[in-house]
Amino acid sequence: MSLTSYQAAPPRGFRIAGPSNLGKLKPANLSRRSMNFPSSLIQNLRATGKIVALTGAGISAESGLATFRDAQTGLWSKFKPEELATADAFRRDPKLVSDWYAWRRDQALKAEPNAGHVALAEMEKRAPEFVLVTQNVDGLHRRAGSKRMVELHGNIHRFRCFENDCASDNFDIDQQRCRSCGGNLRPDVVWFGEMLPPDAIERAVAAAELCDVFFSIGTSSVVYPAADLWRRAKERGAVVIEINKDSTPLTPLADFSFLGKAGEILPALVEQIWIHESDNAH
Ligand code: APR
Repeated sequence: MSLTSYQAAPPRGFRIAGPSNLGKLKPANLSRRSMNFPSSLIQNLRATGKIVALTGAGISAESGLATFRDAQTGLWSKFKPEELATADAFRRDPKLVSDWYAWRRDQALKAEPNAGHVALAEMEKRAPEFVLVTQNVDGLHRRAGSKRMVELHGNIHRFRCFENDCASDNFDIDQQRCRSCGGNLRPDVVWFGEMLPPDAIERAVAAAELCDVFFSIGTSSVVYPAADLWRRAKERGAVVIEINKDSTPLTPLADFSFLGKAGEILPALVEQIWIHESDNAH
């Protein structure tokens, strides 16, 4: 499956069903302890076996990294994806593209994981089965301690030989050159129009189709195939929970939708599901 273009809206044929009124909460201004999650949701999560969490750029926003589509601050409001995030763009101007990714890599290295990343690492430790599927390439989930991860769109801290896909043990990172064939190195991320790593999309689809609860966190839900994973989960009976600052095409279709910051909602949720429970047990 390839990364579908930089659309701001779902593709043709994507049907938006009528709104569901389940669980539309706005906890953004509430303190952690006073956030009220529906008790049915808390019970469900305590009892649940398999959880999948899909994340997007929004989870790293509180670490100071720009999202892609936020109107004023998103990367695609300032830069053109067709000039920076396609193989054609790299062929035309490898230095421009490499410099842009070097700048983003630097931003990612300077950033620290935030409470949302940490809460997901905690969820992995406490849930019986947990898989994190991320569209992010910034490496912050791993730095927060997540281990069972699928990086759908690659990782900005790794490189690939652009010309011949040579083995990575002979790269000159400083010169951005492959020593085996002399070709340019490119970032190991998925550009628009490119296929996702087959192993990554297979693992993500399998996890989505088997899970009991599917979280969609900090993603605009417009870039495919990631934007379709929640639907696969729901078709197999999973409860779908969205945590996002703004409404997305998923919002009216999710079983629960929490409009607010991931770095505030996720820690509160993890605390109420697992930490309160173990407090009460003592
Ligand atoms: N907490 C939760 N959600 C947030 C926060 C926050 N603190 N800040 C922003 N958001 C939300 C925005 O409202 C938006 O809906 O995160 C979402 C980010 O959406 P995008 O910028 O479109 O990022 P993403 O969904 O990850 O993009 C998918 O597009 O350009 C490609 O390959 C790139 O992986 C990326 C893909």
